[in-house]
Amino acid sequence: MIIQSQEKYRPLYHFTPQQGWINDPNGLVYFNDEYHLFFQYHPDGTTWGPMHWGHAISSDLVNWQEQSIALAPDEYGTIFSGSAVVDWHDSTGFFGGQAGLVAIFTHHDHNHELDRAQQRQSLAYSLDAGRTWIKYQCNPVLEHKELIDFRDPKVFWHQATEQWIMILACGQTVHLYRSPNLKEWTFLSEFGEGIGSHDGVWECPDLFPLVVDGQSAITKWVMLVSIGSSDEYIEGSRTQYFIGDFDGTTFTPDASSYKVRWLDYGRDHYAGVCWSDIPAEDGRRICIGWMSNWKYANLTPTELWRGAMSLPRELTLEQRAQGITLIQQPVQELLPMRNTILSLEHVTIADIQSKLNTLLLESYEIHMTADIHSQFALKLRTSQHQATVVGYEGDKGEIYIDRTDSGDHHFHPDFAGKHIANVHQDQSVIDLRIYVDRSSIELFANDGQVVITDLIFPEPDAQGLDIQSLSQDLPVASFHIYQLIPS
Ligand code: FRU
Repeated sequence: MIIQSQEKYRPLYHFTPQQGWINDPNGLVYFNDEYHLFFQYHPDGTTWGPMHWGHAISSDLVNWQEQSIALAPDEYGTIFSGSAVVDWHDSTGFFGGQAGLVAIFTHHDHNHELDRAQQRQSLAYSLDAGRTWIKYQCNPVLEHKELIDFRDPKVFWHQATEQWIMILACGQTVHLYRSPNLKEWTFLSEFGEGIGSHDGVWECPDLFPLVVDGQSAITKWVMLVSIGSSDEYIEGSRTQYFIGDFDGTTFTPDASSYKVRWLDYGRDHYAGVCWSDIPAEDGRRICIGWMSNWKYANLTPTELWRGAMSLPRELTLEQRAQGITLIQQPVQELLPMRNTILSLEHVTIADIQSKLNTLLLESYEIHMTADIHSQFALKLRTSQHQATVVGYEGDKGEIYIDRTDSGDHHFHPDFAGKHIANVHQDQSVIDLRIYVDRSSIELFANDGQVVITDLIFPEPDAQGLDIQSLSQDLPVASFHIYQLIPS
C-alpha cells in the first residue's frame, strides 16, 4: 500500500514496505489482471538481513497493496533474487492442466563442507494467484559445483524454440540455460567476457526482445546486467545494458554494445528488471528498479522502513540519429495522479520565476521543454539552506542532478554530489520530465533517452521551487507542474 503518512521521507507515490528493509524487485509478473511485485525483504530489521520475498499487488502499477511474506528462509537457505512466470500450459505439472504462477529464485546458504557460500536455484508455485506459495519438493533444481556467485535467475518462455530460458549471474558473466519444464535445466552459453563493465560483481540480469520503433520489422534483444558496488568506484552499484540478438542459445551483442551504456546515470536505480507475461495486446516492456545503492543502502536516514522502488518505466527501442537507442518513459498509469498546478506556454525564465515564488510543493511532476541550446537550473525542494538542482547546459549537451545541498547526506561521504549525463542533441528542443517525491528525484530527458534517479533527504518543509538562467529573457516553450496525488 502507498502510505499517506506524515512519516519523514516516506514517499507518496513510490512503493515502500510498511516496515523493514527492502532491496531488489523480484518475481515481477502479470497474472489475472494483477501486477505482482515481490522484493528482497528483511522483515525484522531496517538493514540487510536474512532474505525473504515480500510481496505487493497492484492493478495499475501505482497503488500497491502489500501482502503477507511470500517466501521465507528454509533448510536450503535464505531467499535471494529471482523471477516469476505464468506457466500457461502447466509444463511443470503443478497446476493440474491449468495455468499458474511459478517463482524461480536463488537459495543462498553456507556450505559447511566447502566452508563457503553456496547459491542454488529453486522453485515455488502458487495455487491461489500468488497469495500463498508452496516450495517445490525436489528443490534445488539447478546448482553449479564451482561457482560461488550463481544467482538471480530470470526466466522467460522463448516462443521460437519452445523452451524456457534462464539467464543468471555468475560472477563476471551471465549464463544461459534452457528447460522444457522449469525443473531440468541444460547449459546453453555464457556471455560477458571482454565486454561491458566489470567494476563489480554481475547481478540481476534480464533478457527480452523489443521491436525497434514499435512496428518496424527489426526485433532486437536487450540484456540488462547490474553490477555491484566496489570501494574503488564512487558510483557504487549501477546497471548496464547491451543490445544484440538472441537465437535461443546465444546472445550476440551489436558492435555498439562494446561501449559501456548505463540504464540510469543517477546513483539510485539498481537491480532493475522487467515484468513477465504482460499480455500481447498491451505489449509493453515495463521495468522497475530498487531506488538505492549498495554503497550506502544500509545507512539512509529512514526509520521504520528502508528502501523504495523506482517508478515503473516503459522500455522501448528507437532508431535515432546515434543508432538504436533504449528509451525509458514513466508508465502512462501515472497520468491520472496529475493535478495541474501551473501550465505555461511560450514564456521566459522571468515569467516562470514569478510563478514559482509563491509555490510550496513536496511531491510533483515538472514537464518542461526549451530550446536545445538553452541553459537553466531548476532548484527543487528548497528551504533557506537546502536545494536539489536539476539543470541543463545546452553548450555541453549535459543534464544533471546536483544533490550536494539537498538535505541530509552525512550518513556517507559519497552521497553528496552532482550526477551528469550526456544528451544526444538530435532534436531542436530539450524535454525534461522530473518526478519529485518526499525522498527522490527521477529525471527523464530528451524523450526518455537519458534518465537520472537520485535519492534526496530534504527537511519536510523544504518545499520551495525556483528556476535560474544566465538570461532572464530565455524563452521556454512550455512549463507544467502537476501535483501528484495517488488515488
Ligand atoms: C543485488 C543482490 C542480488 C542478490 C540479492 C540479495 O542487489 O546482491 O545479487 O540476489 O541482492 O539480497
